[in-house]
Amino acid sequence: MVEILELTAAATMHPRKAPATAAETDKPIALLLPDVPNADALLPWLRKIDASRHYTNFGPLEQELAGRIAVLANAPHAITTCNATAAITLWLWERVGAVGARIAVPATTFVGTAQAVLASGNIPFILDIDPATWQLSPQAVLEAARDHHIAAVLPVCAFGAACKLPVWQTFTVETEIPVLIDAAAALGAQTCAPTIDVAYSLHTTKVLPAGEGGAIASYDAALVERLHCRSNFGIGSSGESVLPGSNAKLSEYHAAIALATLETWQSRQSRRRAVMRACLDALHDKCGDAVLPAPHLSGSDFTGALPQLPVLLPAGVDLPRVIERMSAAKVQTRRWYYPPLHRHKVFARHPRAEELPIAEALAARLLGLPFHPFLRPQDIDHIAITLAAALTNP
Ligand SMILES: Cc1ncc(COP(=O)(O)O)c(C=O)c1O
Repeated sequence: MVEILELTAAATMHPRKAPATAAETDKPIALLLPDVPNADALLPWLRKIDASRHYTNFGPLEQELAGRIAVLANAPHAITTCNATAAITLWLWERVGAVGARIAVPATTFVGTAQAVLASGNIPFILDIDPATWQLSPQAVLEAARDHHIAAVLPVCAFGAACKLPVWQTFTVETEIPVLIDAAAALGAQTCAPTIDVAYSLHTTKVLPAGEGGAIASYDAALVERLHCRSNFGIGSSGESVLPGSNAKLSEYHAAIALATLETWQSRQSRRRAVMRACLDALHDKCGDAVLPAPHLSGSDFTGALPQLPVLLPAGVDLPRVIERMSAAKVQTRRWYYPPLHRHKVFARHPRAEELPIAEALAARLLGLPFHPFLRPQDIDHIAITLAAALTNP
């Protein structure tokens, strides 16, 4: 616990007062608190914009940020976009076209994944997740591809967990079906590989916030150049619009926020890891095996970008009742990715695998607990004790 307090104090070049705890304010412990640079941290970057008088349309800050994201993605090329949904849409236009084709997506994801498919003029084809990873597996897509034409696949880094690159590389090489990993919440954890492109979100709730923003990283220089063109109304070097496109550019102001965030990137990552370690230890201590963290958070070490803390509660749990008990004890919770994709009105009519038992079982038992860098030891204890009590005396 001491480790968290020390890290919090040392974490930022422009220290901010952490929000008071629930006990101090009588306010609930927040599920999420964005960790965005304050005005002091932003000012030097805003002065750069004053000096360049370049406010949007691929200015120096946007270019610097794209370079920094390429490094984080371990990719030779990256472009930024106004958000991840736009990034995925542009990629689908490029790789598939707007042709009403089936794009494989997991049932357990944020609706943004499937909305990007609709926006691209294609159809989300909803598949079940793998119980071991809570992610789409190549096997599930191969099985679906026996009966349906699948034009592309969007595996999702659920809850910030990285997808396994080698299995998707093998899949795309063998099937020639293009793959874009939706790593909206996994910047810093999900890297890119030859033949596998990756999309990221820079939304305020993500680990690298820009207010709003997104990016795509790829090994394919020609692809990135065409995505760049499509993100600016399809305007090519001649000044003519040469491809169907949109306005999906990231402004210099948004790039400034992300670049200011990157100044304290290492300490931010360390702090998230330390808080996560403390949360997992407290949950294990107070709840034992009744509460299981998401697969990437299990074991002695954990991986992922750590945007959230999702846990699996016992089978048969009365989840609404647990949420009520937590809320009464001033602990905010959320059923992440709930309902699963196929149960949202807009997607319910779209084709999908006949059965989605794993996604359904997960939806019935998954609870998002508060997780953010400002959690204090007493908050963490309170969350774990409250959850243990809600499970033992429902
Ligand atoms: C898995 C997933 N895909 C897509 C998105 C959409 O990202 P953005 O808000 O940048 O469009 C999100 C946002 O949370 C997400 O979690």
